[in-house]
Amino acid sequence: MSSNTSNTFYITTPIYYVNDVPHIGHAYTTLVADTIARYQRQMGKDTFFITGTDEHGQKVAQAAEEQGMTPLAYADQVVQRFRKCWDVYQLSHNDFIRTTEPRHERVVQEIIQQVYDNGDIYEGEYEGWYSTTSETFFTDTEAEAMNYMDSGKKMQRMKEKNYFFRLTKYAQPLLDHIEKHPNFIRPHNRRNEVISFIKGGLQDLSISRSKTSLSWGVPLPFDENHVIYVWIDALINYISVLKDKPEERWKYWQNAVHLIGKDILRHHAIYWPALLMSAGIDLPQQIYAHGWWTIDGKKMSKSLGNVVDPFDMAERYGTDIFRYFLLRETAFGQDGDFSETAVVKRVNYDLANDLGNLLNRSITMVCRYRQGVVPQTNQHDLKETAEEVVRKYQDRMNDFDFQNGLAAIWELVKRANQYVQEQKPWELAKADAHADQLNAVLYNLLEASRFATVLLAPVMPNKVKEMWRQLKLEGQPAEQQIHHLKWGEFPHGIQLEEPEPIFPRIKAESKKKKENRKKMETPHPSTSKKEQTPAANVITIDDFAKVQLRIAEVLDAEKVENADRLLKLQIQIGEEKRQLVAGIAKWYTPEEMIGKKIVVVANLKPAKIRGVESNGMLLAAKTGDALSIVTVERDLPSGASVS
Ligand code: MSP
Repeated sequence: MSSNTSNTFYITTPIYYVNDVPHIGHAYTTLVADTIARYQRQMGKDTFFITGTDEHGQKVAQAAEEQGMTPLAYADQVVQRFRKCWDVYQLSHNDFIRTTEPRHERVVQEIIQQVYDNGDIYEGEYEGWYSTTSETFFTDTEAEAMNYMDSGKKMQRMKEKNYFFRLTKYAQPLLDHIEKHPNFIRPHNRRNEVISFIKGGLQDLSISRSKTSLSWGVPLPFDENHVIYVWIDALINYISVLKDKPEERWKYWQNAVHLIGKDILRHHAIYWPALLMSAGIDLPQQIYAHGWWTIDGKKMSKSLGNVVDPFDMAERYGTDIFRYFLLRETAFGQDGDFSETAVVKRVNYDLANDLGNLLNRSITMVCRYRQGVVPQTNQHDLKETAEEVVRKYQDRMNDFDFQNGLAAIWELVKRANQYVQEQKPWELAKADAHADQLNAVLYNLLEASRFATVLLAPVMPNKVKEMWRQLKLEGQPAEQQIHHLKWGEFPHGIQLEEPEPIFPRIKAESKKKKENRKKMETPHPSTSKKEQTPAANVITIDDFAKVQLRIAEVLDAEKVENADRLLKLQIQIGEEKRQLVAGIAKWYTPEEMIGKKIVVVANLKPAKIRGVESNGMLLAAKTGDALSIVTVERDLPSGASVS
């Protein structure tokens, strides 16, 4: 599969499971990918950037069950949180892929069929461990080493007939490819990790689940009784999104870069390339695995209540500040620590004291000493520094070393601030004899500010617009091509105005205020506090009237086979008898349910949950690990409407 142009660039993020709402881990890779995409566009590359959601598999099926919803209805709901988050951050992605879309499922089946036709899939029996948390199969040795736990959750023993992919056949070709392409896996310590894992001996990979144990997935094209293993399905998103419009998009594949977290390296650096080799598709250019964020030195976890919410960050600091922090604080590829104290420091030192100060004082002095008119000069004191910085910046950004790419910009910013101290424009302004020198100083400062603004555009796409506006420059900073930046092009003679600070200093939130804020937050797996504010999410009485709530009496109840969370209820609503499935088995026994008067949504579209027909949904209240079904306080007949 060859393509016709090499001026393309393709950047992807992992696609996120919809059992969770966005957190710093999702935001990190996605904001980095957005920065890279913006940088490449400013370097004149025809760039394609995608993100999306991973919606099949056991984890999502279980989360949906717990909410008493079908997996698709559940995914439809949670995917909105991701879309909304990326809207708040004004990401520049070119597409958003959901693995439940037909355009994706079609390509998954095509590729699996190709691999099958190539003789790389055979039927066998899997016996080993499975972690629903990471949707990963583990051997006995691996499971034992992990104490049969993955991210605090127990693994399950599994024995089932399914289909295997001949991964072992690709061990040597993979090693050869990695050897030949030293930058295929970055950083290099991750590359070494992959090499030793392959050399340690691969096993063929189970790539399907029998429908009796999991039906939520894409059916195998050659055996309807199996669904494709969620990871295989998910990885193919990188290609399905291009194959959706192949004439326009396939050209990007030759320059594909996958950004991932270090925990999903094996899937991307072994399974994925082996599968591509088998399907006869070229491999991506690079797989870059980044590190993980701890929060105030601790592992981030829901139970510790320290999950960093990107919506909250956007609201309290602004999207660009959060982006800047994530890119500047830690080397991409290494673990980092997030703390609000560190964010406040970055804002006050780097942004307020250095960058904001440079811009503000440069414009203010032009207003004060030259009535706002940009002077002319042919003395270019900061030119060399600036040109060197642009070179260094590109070199670092091309290598995904954002920390030092940003540090390079700050070399220019700091040098310019130091130049002010050396030149003392306030002294120069005292004598006409120094007028030329003062013109030179002011011009050099404005030009340094322009350079910094252009270079910062991929990282702080909104703040730079404000900076650009204050500099009264034409167009937008993001339209300025970095490799065409030329010193001395700041237009002289234009009129500036007294500036407003763009990066004011901020204070760290007091402990008490923070505690109060935390108390106000009532986390829910599929909503954020933003949506709970009345103004943001009001519905009309007509909206509410669409939901028909009725009292129902439970006539009979039993457990659903092979689904430990589900109860199958036979209910009576007035004259009508119905069957309903609810994810409450963890909290209620079937016996307990019989005879109860419950409240149900009577006009919900019927659905199949784990293959069992469900007509309606019962109401239950849930917080943390506690659940209570909703019932009525007085004995009313079944069928009575609730409003
Ligand atoms: N669905 C798979 C990816 C399939 S890609 C074909 C998946 N989804 S996920 O929702 O679990 O993604 C989590 C992503 O967030 C991973 O890249 C993971 O590395 C990242 N992070 C989760 N916690 C993190 C931190 N504390 N810090 C940084 N990133 C972390 O995996």
